[in-house]
Amino acid sequence: MKLLGRVLSVASECVPLMKTGGLADVVGALPAALALQGWEMRVLMPAYRALRPRLAGWKEVWREEGLWGGEGVVYAGEVAGIQMLLLDAPHLYDRDGGPYGGVSGDWSDNAQRFAALSWVAARIAREGLSDGWSPDILHVHDWQAGFAPAYLAFGGSGGVGSVMTIHNIAFQGWAPASMLGELRLPVDEFHPAVLEYYGGLSSLKAGLVTADRVTTVSPTYAAELMRPDFGMGMQGVIAERAAVVSGILNGVDTGVWDPSSETVPYSTASMKGKAANRAALCDEFGLQVPGPLAIVVSRLTDQKGIDLMAAVIPDFIDAGGGLVVLGSGDPALENAMRGLAARYPGRVGLRIGYDESLSHRLFAGGDAVLVPSRFEPCGLTQMYGLRYGTLPVVAAVGGLADTVIHANPAAISAGVATGITFHPTDAVAFGTALRQLVALYGDKAVWARVQKNAMKQDVGWAASAAAYAGLYAELKG
Ligand code: ADP
Ligand code: GLC
Repeated sequence: MKLLGRVLSVASECVPLMKTGGLADVVGALPAALALQGWEMRVLMPAYRALRPRLAGWKEVWREEGLWGGEGVVYAGEVAGIQMLLLDAPHLYDRDGGPYGGVSGDWSDNAQRFAALSWVAARIAREGLSDGWSPDILHVHDWQAGFAPAYLAFGGSGGVGSVMTIHNIAFQGWAPASMLGELRLPVDEFHPAVLEYYGGLSSLKAGLVTADRVTTVSPTYAAELMRPDFGMGMQGVIAERAAVVSGILNGVDTGVWDPSSETVPYSTASMKGKAANRAALCDEFGLQVPGPLAIVVSRLTDQKGIDLMAAVIPDFIDAGGGLVVLGSGDPALENAMRGLAARYPGRVGLRIGYDESLSHRLFAGGDAVLVPSRFEPCGLTQMYGLRYGTLPVVAAVGGLADTVIHANPAAISAGVATGITFHPTDAVAFGTALRQLVALYGDKAVWARVQKNAMKQDVGWAASAAAYAGLYAELKG
């Protein structure tokens, strides 16, 4: 394959090194997907405490004095086939806790921590690494890297094109205006058309106004973001840039998410294995479920609509359904899930926590995956559901609306139905969707047909990677 160009990807998470959500899956999947399109991608992210032991033997490729209170060194190495660049700046990243905070909440210097990542990214984009590698394109993800296109633009881009991808508009990287100088931003750009955001600063906005192209992770979310009900204050900023905004749907790693490599393998040609996985899952959680066995694998947050479960699950259980929830997050929602599990032993299983291998058993053994999100930039679990014939029951927003086709009679007879969608995201519509699920599950022939349609969907990366490659090519000229 001919090398078309080089891309520096910048993010705060990347599978398999650090993950709190789908952002990490996407950042970790893009390099291999883009390589197949002729683009060589390296991923820059902070060397958090847990990652520092890996740096031994890695090659130093960048050194920067005065990085908000200390020195930063970038090391290059390979992890799971990904060319990683880890920014080691112990005064910023060598801490106990997660990437954004510790036991007592978010780190108070997050603005500086991620400005540092962005600063180094912009300089590398402009000057290249000491091993001779230099990118044609700077591709940044979410607020943590938002200042990078801004630093690049303000300091002179040197012909390097920039792309900013929004994975979630809810996180905007807010900082007070008084930090303008400390964050190395030009005072004369502090006005509403560029840096000023409701009187302060937002690294997300800074990226959105300065990047050459703006993408988000589904076409529907790209349109939703320009509306006040989804834009979360950023709608005007995005609408202003409409000419360069596009939605590129995420894919999933079809090598990792593959029903033919689960405990009991299955495929569209032979679905027997799915029943065995279901039985094993019911055993694991002590369940006996005559109707559809639904699963949830999710952060337990308001975004995901988890608060609606308490209202709709009782009727679903009465109708024969069962549920296994795997997730963690908001303590009130964790408690609500504990309440359901306590009320319906034998019908509701619960695991509070994060467990990759259990999530595979859930997709392999479940009949349906519930994703009742209030907003969903793309969503990955409904795509795992499609691939596993674990039919998605989703709110028709964002990427969920773009990936699931509702099983109404016309779609069923046309052979295109892949799941159940509902709108709006409330308990009434969600309850109706669960009654449809019970009815659909009751008609074995139709259920099997919809499962097959779902499993035939292309949820891989090829089409999306080609779309990113197209953007890069436009910018490289
Ligand atoms: P978001 O990024 O908004 O959380 P996505 O659907 O894009 O939503 O990605 C979530 C990712 O995290 C998926 O890969 C999902 O399987 C995984 N995940 C979420 N919660 C858990 C959990 N408790 N255990 C295992 N995997 C989880
Ligand atoms: C965000 C979104 C999710 C999306 C993921 C990866 O976390 O909430 O919908 O799939 O990013 O792009």
